[in-house]
Amino acid sequence: MSNASKLIQEMQTYYHHRAAGYDASMGYGRPEVVAQLADVIAHLRQLVAGKRMLEIACGPCFWTEQIYDCTHSVLATDYSQSTLDQAALKQLSANKVQLQQANAYELSDLPGDFDVVLAVDWLAHVPMSRMHDFLRGLHLQGTGQVVFCDQLPGAQSWTGQYDAEGNHLQSRHLKNDASYTVIKHFFSDAEIAAIFSEYAVDVAIARYPDVRRIVLSYSLTH
Ligand SMILES: C[S@@+](CC[C@H](N)C(=O)[O-])C[C@H]1O[C@@H](n2cnc3c(N)ncnc32)[C@H](O)[C@@H]1O
Repeated sequence: MSNASKLIQEMQTYYHHRAAGYDASMGYGRPEVVAQLADVIAHLRQLVAGKRMLEIACGPCFWTEQIYDCTHSVLATDYSQSTLDQAALKQLSANKVQLQQANAYELSDLPGDFDVVLAVDWLAHVPMSRMHDFLRGLHLQGTGQVVFCDQLPGAQSWTGQYDAEGNHLQSRHLKNDASYTVIKHFFSDAEIAAIFSEYAVDVAIARYPDVRRIVLSYSLTH
């Protein structure tokens, strides 16, 4: 198995074990944290309003919950059934939101046409060697708009550890004492430009430094 495949698998195990406590660990249960994210949420809402949205790596659907009401519909997908079980507890309107297990690297079997695809805290985890496979698969979904929301680095974020393909690595620890190695990119504008130079898209970048968030969005014209 390649190093990237091992890291993908390790991340899946990590998020499976983190599923039940994920929202709390991010502060998403705290109204003041949600209030601080208001500008980011408003930006995402504006990008998905009225659209049929595919969400990749939705996790327990914190972000989905913030924006689904203004969409036409949402298919929220994640690799891990345990995170989807957490998402189901939110009981988001079944008229609008469907949950489905799906691997972000194998999207071709998903049903339906989508106008927009959203992934929050996902792009930062994609190994560089899998980046273009992932993006090409995503673009084949026929979506008009693509939106990635990720974290900006904080003081403790950089580890100085990289693997042979240039992935920035972090060690994550869970309460069960297990440690996991996870890819976490913090892309510069130049790195973003280099990644998306393969595609005929203009990537809009918005940064929200107070809440350490970045939103990338672009339209596909095919
Ligand atoms: C950092 S969490 C983000 C969750 C959610 N988007 C949020 O921001 O609250 C990353 C998510 O990626 C999911 N994941 C990991 N590998 C995946 C894969 N190959 N395909 C789809 N989802 C995957 C994990 O289960 C986890 O829910």
